[in-house]
Amino acid sequence: MANPTVHTFDAVIVGAGGAGMMAALYAGKSANVAVISKLYPTRSHTGAAQGGIGAALANLEEDKWEWHAYDTVKGSDYLADQDAVDVLCQDAIDVVVELEHMGLPFDRIENGRISQRRFGGHTNNETNRPVYRACHAADRTGHMILQTLYQNCLKNKVNFFDEYQVVDLIRVDDTVRGVVAINIADGSFHIFHSKAVMFATGGWGRCWEVTSNAHSLTGDGAAICMRRGIPMQDMEFFQFHPTGIFKLGILITEGVRGEGGVLINGEGERFMERYAPSIKDLASRDVVSRAIYLEVQAGRGINGKNYVHLDVTPETVNHYFEKDGEDMRISREYIEQKLPDIADFTRTYLGVDPVKDPMPVQPTAHYAMGGIPTNVDSEVLLDAENRVLPGLYAAGEVACVSVHGANRLGTNSLTDLVVFGKRAGVRMADFCDSAELLPLPDNPAEEIMAEFDRIRNNEGNMKTYTLRDRMQKTMTANVSVFRVHDQMAKAINDMDEIKTDYTRFITVDDKGKQFNTDLLEAWELGCLIDLARATAASAIARTESRGAHARDDYPERDDDNWLTHTFATLQSDGSFELTYKPVTLGRYEPKPRVY
Ligand code: FUM
Repeated sequence: MANPTVHTFDAVIVGAGGAGMMAALYAGKSANVAVISKLYPTRSHTGAAQGGIGAALANLEEDKWEWHAYDTVKGSDYLADQDAVDVLCQDAIDVVVELEHMGLPFDRIENGRISQRRFGGHTNNETNRPVYRACHAADRTGHMILQTLYQNCLKNKVNFFDEYQVVDLIRVDDTVRGVVAINIADGSFHIFHSKAVMFATGGWGRCWEVTSNAHSLTGDGAAICMRRGIPMQDMEFFQFHPTGIFKLGILITEGVRGEGGVLINGEGERFMERYAPSIKDLASRDVVSRAIYLEVQAGRGINGKNYVHLDVTPETVNHYFEKDGEDMRISREYIEQKLPDIADFTRTYLGVDPVKDPMPVQPTAHYAMGGIPTNVDSEVLLDAENRVLPGLYAAGEVACVSVHGANRLGTNSLTDLVVFGKRAGVRMADFCDSAELLPLPDNPAEEIMAEFDRIRNNEGNMKTYTLRDRMQKTMTANVSVFRVHDQMAKAINDMDEIKTDYTRFITVDDKGKQFNTDLLEAWELGCLIDLARATAASAIARTESRGAHARDDYPERDDDNWLTHTFATLQSDGSFELTYKPVTLGRYEPKPRVY
């Protein structure tokens, strides 16, 4: 195979979603930056975020960043680091205004200010009533963020390498020297030699069968870092969004409930009144997902099946507004204007018109709270002692700052992307100003090229889809909304077998170079397998229930022993070493969550 082409930049950013492009805008002010993305940038998964971006702008009613911070900490089940949450919620306000000034077409209220809607877990801390905090562009907020940032990157002449897939990090001791990528079009290897590297590659929901995540969300950045000795933080916390389209998993935004939509079981009951009497359908996601599971388990799914209804028909919504003593009314026109995408999705995929009929929904694997550990400047941490790896950065879903703790509030992913993407860009620019470009080691692409050759030429008999199916089935059955020791032990065992089969028997049909997605999917499956194994190993060790990690055998939260972050480090024999770091507390003392 030909020698890889070498490109040189001050900084390379892997991933062209909200975090990557925000970082590129800021790093690019003084550094020579490349953004490398396996997708065309506007196809990045940020575009799937629908309902809004959280910021206490107080455009419709009183709100404060401190209330946003408290809701985030409470929603996180007190696992979030409170200093980082303060940064998130304070910076959110300026960053949303900045996006507006970049041209983002937010919905508007009558006085011209940005429109805001209610979302799960966001409250007025004095009344405990839902607050209007989610700034939105209809139900296409993430999509509009992507378009806006991409246009601004083009205006600022950011260098994009579209459809180049990064497959390795060049790390020498405690320095980084760049990344190795494949040009998907012709299969050629490329070395991006740089002073700084940032990963903004998103999550790994594809470890599970039903997911809101795009096919491209295969955890590449996290797996690459893990294989290069970076620990993974809090992997046991993976969020299931309560309302994915039945069987398909495609997201139906929480904004539907923010606009008044309600969840109804097979007996026609608005069951969230029982689980969260005060905030009901707008409880945080872990609570709502568990409630749906319990309803289904009790035989109260629709027609006894494993789904419930999400009802936003004006007839139902207006009935409940009246019952709750609220004066808002919705109509067909309102739904078409505020929720056009989800109306389109359910009409297209289910033949269900949400203006007339309820939508069949079930929990869907949605968001990784854990990931590459970072500090509030998006610098990657090497261990539970907060040692920084100079020149390496991460932001967005792939990173764990930790602002989401054990359970993320809806809208805070978009906030996280832009707040910590921007901070990464600023810090990278500073770093590149003073850092030297260190020399490349000999043959930095040799190891990963050999791995691709191995997969391409392996004479095994197992196809990617067979192994992926096995992984998704065991993760869904055993490391999902509810967990117990024996099931997680089974998942660990199954995943070890899957890893062995992957290593020995994976095979691809396409042996060629051009657009060899068969080969790339096989490599991506290896990333998912490693992340699923890290998830199960971290989960079985945490003997408590907190946020998205709900154990039937340890149903209580255990603040005496588990106010800690998990750091899982991959060992050379494939096992994980687990170490722990105390949560940074602050203004909010842990207390039981009441809804
Ligand atoms: O429900 C939603 O619109 C999803 C938003 C989020 O995950 O933050």
